[in-house]
Amino acid sequence: MAVTTNVVAEVKDLRAYYVTKAYGLQRTVRAVEGVSLDIRKDEVFGIAGESGCGKSTLLKALLGMTPPPLQILGGSVTYHVAGVDTNVFSLPESRRRQLRWQVVSYIPQGSMHALNPVRRIGDTFRDFIQTHRQVSRRQADGIIREYLGNLGLPAKALDSYPHQLSGGMRQRVTIALATILSPPLVLADEPTTALDVVVQRGVLQFLEDVRQQQGSTLVLVTHDMGVHAHIADRIAVLYAGQVAEEADTRTLFTKPLHPYTQYLIQSLPKLDDKAERVSIPGRPPSLDDPPTGCRFHPRCPLAMPVCKTAPPPLEQVGPDHRVACYLVSTGGRDGQHA
Ligand SMILES: Nc1ncnc2c1ncn2[C@@H]1O[C@H](COP(=O)(O)OP(=O)(O)OP(=O)(O)O)[C@@H](O)[C@H]1O
Ligand code: SF4
Ligand SMILES: [Mg+2]
Repeated sequence: MAVTTNVVAEVKDLRAYYVTKAYGLQRTVRAVEGVSLDIRKDEVFGIAGESGCGKSTLLKALLGMTPPPLQILGGSVTYHVAGVDTNVFSLPESRRRQLRWQVVSYIPQGSMHALNPVRRIGDTFRDFIQTHRQVSRRQADGIIREYLGNLGLPAKALDSYPHQLSGGMRQRVTIALATILSPPLVLADEPTTALDVVVQRGVLQFLEDVRQQQGSTLVLVTHDMGVHAHIADRIAVLYAGQVAEEADTRTLFTKPLHPYTQYLIQSLPKLDDKAERVSIPGRPPSLDDPPTGCRFHPRCPLAMPVCKTAPPPLEQVGPDHRVACYLVSTGGRDGQHA
């Protein structure tokens, strides 16, 4: 993959496994297996895929947050920020912690429930600012009010406890907290999943407003292809810990080449279309014993003998389009594949 100068984070051949021991037996879950990605400055990069395919694990590795049982078994994550290249895994944990929130921030899965329930929102913000900046209480309050005002959030939210806010407002507040130090790279894990569709739209718009105001890059994880269609510039589709396909959003939705991506898109509801949605047959594999060859082969209606023996390479098929499927690299079988 060509490395361009506008790359803000570079993932190379990453292997992130959960290694656990119970009753003397070791279990290794190969959650991320050989993933390479370039995240570009100022883009919204979507990471898609079904539950358990390694989306959150990839995001944690991007953040350099790898507490046991998660282990990095190979590969690298490098930030290219303000002219400095930082290989995240070569740093001690104390240095990685310094990068968090200032260089890269993280909105974890289920984060809207993570605000301290017995502290007012304003106190949580002040604690956060004073942990990261040498400022007085008064200065901290000034920074917070100005930031929330710029984002159009009501100052009265600061006097509330988390349970007094609606779900949508709680998530906006969580996003504001994670981004108040203006990190150039923001990672968000399923930030709208628990919200109803109308509220989701508002929260996505809020994320986009924050990104535009700060000129930051957003990596957005969600299993919801509708959300990706709405906000992402480029999308990587993960299957069983590996990139199945990556493309700009338009190409991915109009010319998906991997059978798994095609299923994901076909299962999206369409306006005025009463036809039954096509759901993906079977279930994702267990990642402690993934299938040989192409990990999608047990569910793929187009699988060929070669698919069971060796993993298909992720090949560049267009300027911004990569696919890991033998049907594409061998030119299709009997015209079955477009
Ligand atoms: N702490 C852990 N210990 C062992 N295995 C784990 C742990 N956390 C996740 N896994 C496993 O790693 C794999 C990838 O999980 P991950 O949470 O990254 O998936 P995901 O795509 O984010 O799923 P979801 O959409 O449900 O959030 C799964 O098989 C999961 O069971
Ligand atoms: S490589 Fe084979 S099994 Fe995998 S998606 Fe392509 S056709 Fe299906
Ligand atoms: Mg997850």
